[in-house]
Amino acid sequence: MGAAKADQPYLMAFVEDKNDYNIVQDVIKSLNIANYEIIKGGIKEAIDIFKLQRSPQYLIVDVSKSDLPATDVTRLFEVCEPGMLMLAVGIRNDVPLYRDLIKLGVHEYVIKPLFSEILVRTLKNMLFGEEKGKESQIKKGKIISVIGSRGGVGNTFLATNLATILSHEKSRRVAAVDLDLHYGALALYFDKTAAYGLREILEDPERIDQVFLERVLTPVNTRLFILGSEEPLEERIQPKVEGVNTLLDYLSQQFHYVVVDLPHHMNTLTKTVIESSSVIILVCDPSVGSLRDTGRIMSLVGLEGSVRRIITVLNKVGAYATGEISPSDFEETLKHKISHVIPFDNVLPMACINKGEFIEEKENSLGIVLRDIVDDILGIQKSEEPESGLDRFFKKIKLR
Ligand SMILES: Nc1ncnc2c1ncn2[C@@H]1O[C@H](COP(=O)(O)OP(=O)(O)OP(=O)(O)O)[C@@H](O)[C@H]1O
Ligand SMILES: [Mg+2]
Repeated sequence: MGAAKADQPYLMAFVEDKNDYNIVQDVIKSLNIANYEIIKGGIKEAIDIFKLQRSPQYLIVDVSKSDLPATDVTRLFEVCEPGMLMLAVGIRNDVPLYRDLIKLGVHEYVIKPLFSEILVRTLKNMLFGEEKGKESQIKKGKIISVIGSRGGVGNTFLATNLATILSHEKSRRVAAVDLDLHYGALALYFDKTAAYGLREILEDPERIDQVFLERVLTPVNTRLFILGSEEPLEERIQPKVEGVNTLLDYLSQQFHYVVVDLPHHMNTLTKTVIESSSVIILVCDPSVGSLRDTGRIMSLVGLEGSVRRIITVLNKVGAYATGEISPSDFEETLKHKISHVIPFDNVLPMACINKGEFIEEKENSLGIVLRDIVDDILGIQKSEEPESGLDRFFKKIKLR
C-alpha cells in the first residue's frame, strides 16, 4: 500500500444516497483505511471539486445521475492526477458502457445496488491487487520538452506561457521543470524562487520520495508547480540518468503535463529527457545560426522513432528590417513544416516577464499563437496542416 500524500486523502468516495454511503463507509472501515473521505454526490460534484483541489490516490464515484457517463468520466479524468485509480458505480447494467468506461481507464464498474462483499472484493483489488502494481496499468502524464536551437530564442518564455495556459485555461495539472541548474530563469519568469532540492534529486536519486518531492515543488497556482535551481556558477553538477528518470516518473504520475525547459546543449541529461518525451517543442529564431542548429537538433531528436512529435516554433519573426530567414526558407531547408510562427513583439514578452505574468490576452497575435501551440500539444490541432506556418502567420499578425 502506498503512503498517503501529505495533503490529500488516500481514498475519496462520491455516493448519491444514504444507503450507499453507509455501505461504502463500512467497507472502507473493514479494510482499515484510515485516510478517507466520503462525499454525498456523484460525478458532477467530483469534477467540480477536483477542478479546485488535488485528487486522491483512489476514487469511488457514482455515475448514476449522469446522462453521458463516458463523457463525464473523460472530464473527470482530465481534472484528476494521471496516477489516480477509479472505481465507478452506477445503475446502468449495460455492456457497451462497461467497455467504454474500462477503455477510458476506469479500474472497475460496479452495478448498483451495492453489496458489501462485491465492493470489498473490487476495492481490495484496486487498492492491493496484483493488477494495481503493473506498470502498464498506471496512467501517466506526458513529458513535453522545450528545446531552443540556440540561446535566447525564447525557450523559457514559451515554456512558462505554455505551462500556464495548460493549467490556467485548460485545467490540467502541470509541472514545469527547469533543467538549466545554473542559469535557468523559469522560476524568475514566474516571479518565484524555486525551492531547494532539484540538484539533490538529480545527483542522488535515492533521496526522492513523495515527501521530498512535494517540498521541492513550488506552487504557481493550484494546478501549476515549478522545479528549478540556481546553483553556484563555479560548481559542477553531476546529474545521474537514474535521477532524471525517477524524477520524471514521479512527476508524470501526478501531473498531466511535465513541461521541461531544457538547456540547449546536448548532454546525458537532455538526451534522457528527450527520450522520455512524447512531444518536443523545438524553438528557433529566424537567424542563420538558428536554422543550422534547428536542422541538427531535428535530425538528432527525430531519429529515434516516430512516437515523439516535434512541434517547431519559429519565434521573434519580424524583429529585424532585413536579414531574417523567412519561414518558407526555413521549411524548404529543413524539409519540415514550421508548425507555428510567433511574431516579435516589442512590448508584451518583456513586460510580462518583468511582472511574472503570462500572455493573458487571447486576441493579440502572440496570445493566439501561444494558444494554438497549446491546442497542438493537446492534440486538438495537428501541426501538419495543409496551411503553411507562413500563411497562418500573415493571417494572424496584427501589427501593434
Ligand atoms: N516573440 C517575442 N517577441 C519579443 N521578445 C521575445 C519573444 N519571445 C521571447 N522574447 C524575449 O527574448 C528574451 C529571451 O527569452 P528567453 O529567456 O525565453 O530565451 P531562452 O531561449 O530561454 O534563453 P536562454 O538560452 O538564456 O535560456 C526574453 O527577454 C523575452 O522577453
Ligand atoms: Mg531559458
